[in-house]
Amino acid sequence: MKLGVLISGRGSNLRSIIEATQSGLLQAEIVTVISNRPKAEGLLHAEKAGIPRAVIPHGHYTDRETFEGAVVAHLRDSGADTIALAGFDRIVTGTLLRAFPDRVVNIHPALLPAFKGLHAQKQALDHGNKITGVTVHFVDEEMDHGPIIAQAAVAIEDDDTEATLAARILAEEHRLYPQVLQAMACGELQRTGRAVRGGPR
Ligand code: GRF
Repeated sequence: MKLGVLISGRGSNLRSIIEATQSGLLQAEIVTVISNRPKAEGLLHAEKAGIPRAVIPHGHYTDRETFEGAVVAHLRDSGADTIALAGFDRIVTGTLLRAFPDRVVNIHPALLPAFKGLHAQKQALDHGNKITGVTVHFVDEEMDHGPIIAQAAVAIEDDDTEATLAARILAEEHRLYPQVLQAMACGELQRTGRAVRGGPR
């Protein structure tokens, strides 16, 4: 599997994906890391690992489709066949999805369909939830909406703050995302409409 990873910031999920390829847990090659933000810390993880990287600033394009057209062109040039969004902060359109049908996945720090969008950890705390978690899902044109591939639950403790909860969720993200990507690499996932079978738990 030839993986393209799209980031915008810290890149800790990217780092866990890189480490999984290095340890052999994930049998895939990361052919490119693309950031829409030049200062994304995650670019350094790619650099350290010797992975090709590109900055494609969304602000240089007149609209989402043109920006994504540039992203798709770069992904194709890199030979990517599977795209992992890892903290990518732009809403994805059909331009990317049509280029890589059923091969664009995202990770979200909540148990979807609860707590879509930004600050999902704070949303769960504010709601008084006792459990939240992580979701990896196929991407469609609605934000945090596509078919769910795998989820992991994280208990919310009485004394949790947004930071302590986010850290425990992140640890699960780093475990789950490489496992899902490995299932994709092995062709283990079967999707029928919204139902996806064969992913990790
Ligand atoms: C993660 O919490 C991920 O679930 C969400 O954005 C955050 C990215 O973190 N989509 P990082 O850049 O991978 O550290």
